[in-house]
Amino acid sequence: MRILFVCLGNICRSPIAEGVFKNKAKELGLRFEISSAGTANYHIGKPPHPLSQKVCKNHQIDISQQRAQQFSSVMHEKFDYIFALDHSVLSDINHQLKQFSINQNVKLITEIIDNYSIKDVPDPYYGDFSNYEAVFEIINDLCNAFYNQLK
Ligand code: 4NP
Repeated sequence: MRILFVCLGNICRSPIAEGVFKNKAKELGLRFEISSAGTANYHIGKPPHPLSQKVCKNHQIDISQQRAQQFSSVMHEKFDYIFALDHSVLSDINHQLKQFSINQNVKLITEIIDNYSIKDVPDPYYGDFSNYEAVFEIINDLCNAFYNQLK
């Protein structure tokens, strides 16, 4: 199984998703390929935001080796699932794929749980550590649900 998580900058939310989903796959002994990207080019090559690193480290997950990359429509070939972290990212991705007549079913990460109360994973970039903790909790819930559905 190959999964790609996409947010705007690939330094706050999708690196946490990559770290959490990779960590769970490892715990379960699953050889999944999991990556992340951002629709914007602002932070290409940078490590995750220090507060994303910190919240993951608090849960024994090391994401310090990740480096930001920009989403490109060619990536769709390499992944079975593409999950957008919010609606605006989802529409950006769909717009890009449509230009190349690519019919890939890209979903919101929050669609993993039916009728989940949260639709968009909130952007913590201008927030404080509590915002990163909130993002971690949402992603952790979604991650547990995702792997439970595979059973
Ligand atoms: P992310 O957060 O999309 O979760 O990585 C952001 C990172 C950077 C910016 C916005 C959101 N920015 O405007 O630079």
